[in-house]
Amino acid sequence: MAPAADDAQLVLATEAEKEARDLLTAQAWGGGLTTEAYQRREKCLRALAVPRLDMRTWLLVDASRRVLSSCETLSFPSLLLTDAGRSRGHTYGVASVFTEGPLRGQGHATRVLDRVCETLAREPAAHAVVLYSDVGAAQYSRSGFVPRPAFDWRWSAAPPGATSEAVLFTEDALGWRWAAHPPAGGNFVVHPTADTFDWFLERERIYCTELGTPRPAACGAAVGNSLALWYAQPKDARLWVHWLDAADAKTCRALLHAARVVARDAGLSEVRLWEDLGGFPSPEGLEGGRREKRSGGLPMLRPLDARVRPEDWRRIPRALWV
Ligand SMILES: CC(C)(COP(=O)(O)OP(=O)(O)OC[C@H]1O[C@@H](n2cnc3c(N)ncnc32)[C@H](O)[C@@H]1OP(=O)(O)O)[C@@H](O)C(=O)NCCC(=O)NCCS
Repeated sequence: MAPAADDAQLVLATEAEKEARDLLTAQAWGGGLTTEAYQRREKCLRALAVPRLDMRTWLLVDASRRVLSSCETLSFPSLLLTDAGRSRGHTYGVASVFTEGPLRGQGHATRVLDRVCETLAREPAAHAVVLYSDVGAAQYSRSGFVPRPAFDWRWSAAPPGATSEAVLFTEDALGWRWAAHPPAGGNFVVHPTADTFDWFLERERIYCTELGTPRPAACGAAVGNSLALWYAQPKDARLWVHWLDAADAKTCRALLHAARVVARDAGLSEVRLWEDLGGFPSPEGLEGGRREKRSGGLPMLRPLDARVRPEDWRRIPRALWV
């Protein structure tokens, strides 16, 4: 029987509770991995994200601490333009919202999200909560999340013999390459950190190890001051460009070409990019790519600070996906 609404409490999961949750969520998110490999993945990702990305696992529990629903949050720096200038704060990314089959349809997921948002709203300089819905907009609209447009660009891996003139670099150079990059302009900007990119590379390391596939020779390319960063997702043979910052269309094409060459050499078949709502890179820079409405990963934002307007969240790189 479902508990009365006020029996439920929001708590942070213990290590044992996180591991118990992994066993249940394996069916939803363990695609391509055995349950044991998925458990290893979750452990490794937490080892990185708890200290470096403020990762927290939230549980909605009843009076006997039975878990009704759960989710995770990671934190990102964000910048909000106000009359007084740009104010720094935090934006939280929600991941892995999960209710066990028999407990679904009773409002538990809605309630865990509402409680998490109420709790985070009390933290200093809390700007907003974002998530990427794989179950459409309605599920999260009821908790005040507003969807943003979502399109993908896709290219096939480079043909045999094609080479790249861009400077390719590995994760050892990620820190200094990224540190030189200022946050984008705009009324509201959520900004990835070098640790954010490393979290994606940790996913890449785990999948390549578990599936026995080669890691790409580089995690990014530079042309002048312009930069593309990527990670491999071997379970669907994709190279995701999770950051792209190109000075002009020509540079943009060169960076995407570099990604396609690296993808080919790592045995991946496709390069993918999330479209930037800011309108850049321009269509000429994305030459040869196929644009399509995204299925899954729908970005949604719920303001915690009343001055944040969902429509001002325009730069949404894949690097912010959790
Ligand atoms: C998606 C998921 C988290 C939803 O969990 P849930 O606890 O069933 O969610 P809720 O009960 O809050 O809402 C789900 C449905 O119950 C309905 N509902 C909400 N409150 C309700 C209540 N008090 N009583 C009865 N039904 C209710 C909602 O209307 C909704 O139905 P609809 O989407 O058909 O309109 C769950 O299905 C799940 O874990 N799926 C697998 C993992 C996954 O896909 N996670 C989401 C990734 S983005």
